Amino acid sequence: MTDITIALSKGRIFDDTAPLLKVAGIESLDDPEKSRKLILETNRANVRLVIVRASDVPTYVQYGAADIGIAGKDVLLEHGGAELYQPLDLNIARCRMMVAVPEGFDYESAVFQGARLRVATKYLQTAREHFADKGMHVDLIKLYGSMELAPLVGLADAIVDLVSTGNTLKANKLKAVEEIMPISSRLIINQAALKLKREAIQPILKAFSAAVEK
Ligand code: ATP
Ligand code: PRP
Repeated sequence: MTDITIALSKGRIFDDTAPLLKVAGIESLDDPEKSRKLILETNRANVRLVIVRASDVPTYVQYGAADIGIAGKDVLLEHGGAELYQPLDLNIARCRMMVAVPEGFDYESAVFQGARLRVATKYLQTAREHFADKGMHVDLIKLYGSMELAPLVGLADAIVDLVSTGNTLKANKLKAVEEIMPISSRLIINQAALKLKREAIQPILKAFSAAVEK
């Protein structure tokens, strides 16, 4: 039997993927929130799950350390997608990539006047492309999280971050001023594995497709 390794992050991706895996007949034997194990066995002897940081999922699949992964579009755009086959939008972990500024900041005027803004973000590639498309010169500041703090303490004028309910922006007196793109998570497959392990991978892909369409 061909061994299959699936990379995913714990938290919302694992929670939203578990029902899809179940449709494919795959159930984890451990709860990643409770276990410190990074390799989780499943009810299928030949299928295992590896628990990695969300932004590391494409790297594991790119190098073939995992055959399959589940990753956000935000993460895939930053990674670049090398060696990855992306057959399916799973429509899970949905949110929006937005530009946000302090509530009192007149973003439109700043853009109109050609102000050179400082923008803090974890998503450098996406932000760079967005502001280049708008013909804006910005100074990007790389952060690894809690972007909402940056404008509050004078680190940046604006942020590029993910927004879902808008509660985090609101709690920090920020407002969204531009949507860059909608975000959801995708199934990714190592291109070599797709050829060499086709018989084992296709049924999983098929089950995921069917589950998503429901
Ligand atoms: P890392 O741990 O690598 O820094 P992360 O903290 O962004 O990444 P998660 O919070 O688990 O990881 O998010 C995983 C994915 O879920 C993101 O890549 C994104 O596509 C999506 N996501 C992030 N925030 C939200 C949200 N508030 N609502 C819905 N989906 C979200
Ligand atoms: C994400 C994102 C925002 C928040 C937006 O953070 O970076 O901070 O969700 O969601 P909301 O609009 O519903 O408030 P997350 O919850 O993943 O925290 P983390 O960045 O610390 O992982």
